[in-house]
Amino acid sequence: MRPRESQRMAAVQSPIIPVVAELIRQHPGTISLGQGVVGYGPPPEAAAQLDRFFADPAHHKYQPVAGLPELVEAYAAKLAAENRVTVGNESRLVITAGGNMAFMNAILALTDPGDEIILQTPYYFNHEMAVTMASCRPVLVSTDSEYQLRVDAIAAAITSRTRAIVTVSPNNPTGAVYPEAALHQVNELCARRGLHHIHDEAYEYFVYDGASHFSPGSIAGAEGHTISLFSLSKSHGFASWRIGAMVFPERLLAAVRKIQDTILICAPVISQFAAVGALRAGAAYCREKLRGIAENRALMRAGLEQLAPLAETPRADGAFYFLVRLHTALGSFEVVERLIREHRVAVIPGTAFGMADGCHLRVAYGALDRGTAAEGIERLVSGLRAILKP
Ligand SMILES: Cc1ncc(COP(=O)(O)O)c(C=O)c1O
Repeated sequence: MRPRESQRMAAVQSPIIPVVAELIRQHPGTISLGQGVVGYGPPPEAAAQLDRFFADPAHHKYQPVAGLPELVEAYAAKLAAENRVTVGNESRLVITAGGNMAFMNAILALTDPGDEIILQTPYYFNHEMAVTMASCRPVLVSTDSEYQLRVDAIAAAITSRTRAIVTVSPNNPTGAVYPEAALHQVNELCARRGLHHIHDEAYEYFVYDGASHFSPGSIAGAEGHTISLFSLSKSHGFASWRIGAMVFPERLLAAVRKIQDTILICAPVISQFAAVGALRAGAAYCREKLRGIAENRALMRAGLEQLAPLAETPRADGAFYFLVRLHTALGSFEVVERLIREHRVAVIPGTAFGMADGCHLRVAYGALDRGTAAEGIERLVSGLRAILKP
């Protein structure tokens, strides 16, 4: 008899990035506007901490589940100064192995099998996957035509099984930045209905054209129901180092500690040392890199505007994405395959983000040098014109 595997895991969607990466590999010379990464690594202040890590053999042993006290303290100081989020005696703050792990910690800490979590579509695919993995049901609420929150629709989706509402701003995959007022409304809705508000702030520094970032964890009275997720992956070029942080209501501490102790024990300690240096470099490190990324963004936007009336791209004041809406009956994966095979440019299909209706493509521009960005958008525009021509 054949041993059985998990039905629960079979229900989880497969990540799309490796599928697109394989197509790129098969078509050498393809420019990728696909992966959601930045093109830079950590600041020198992070590397400067590594000698200190190796200087003491005790650093190779397990360290506290919640994070090195030095890093917890530095993160708490950053959150107070930049986000106006106060963690009090630090029993509401845990260092994680990245934002994804922080999200999984939150879902496991809040839910029982069969519970519902409200996600906005388009969603960040790992959020949807995490909810399904925890044997919970993602309840999908579509954003409006500008990819902004529809608070009434979110309220209407709440049932007795709802445990949390998830928001991501600046957003992956749309680049939308939610106004402070909208995040207030969601946070207050959660307070009124006895739900948690999980807010992912992985792109907190990536805002353009005067847009500003807002942390709902800073709202007076929000600390009892708000879970705020942070990451150094994008801001400080830390994707492979795996460091993030979560702030949560104090009563969840015991659950979060059990989860993290079991899955991780502690975030990689060498990375935590590096993170102390990264926080010392601070937001200024990211903001300096943002100038180049903003230039790529301008190139992308100018190119995408040329696609009218075949396609439209809603306003995107944050992160390093645009989500293009194509006016075609073709499926988004088919368009992506043709763009790679016939035009040597890769983007991510909207279906990966739960966009079942219509044809959407995510264009990422965080990791490109100027020449590649220019060539990439030119190929995308001419490729889409060829594919979509009436
Ligand atoms: C919205 C969002 N949250 C979290 C992550 C993952 O961050 P980390 O590398 O910290 O796990 C990403 C990465 O693309 C993201 O887009």
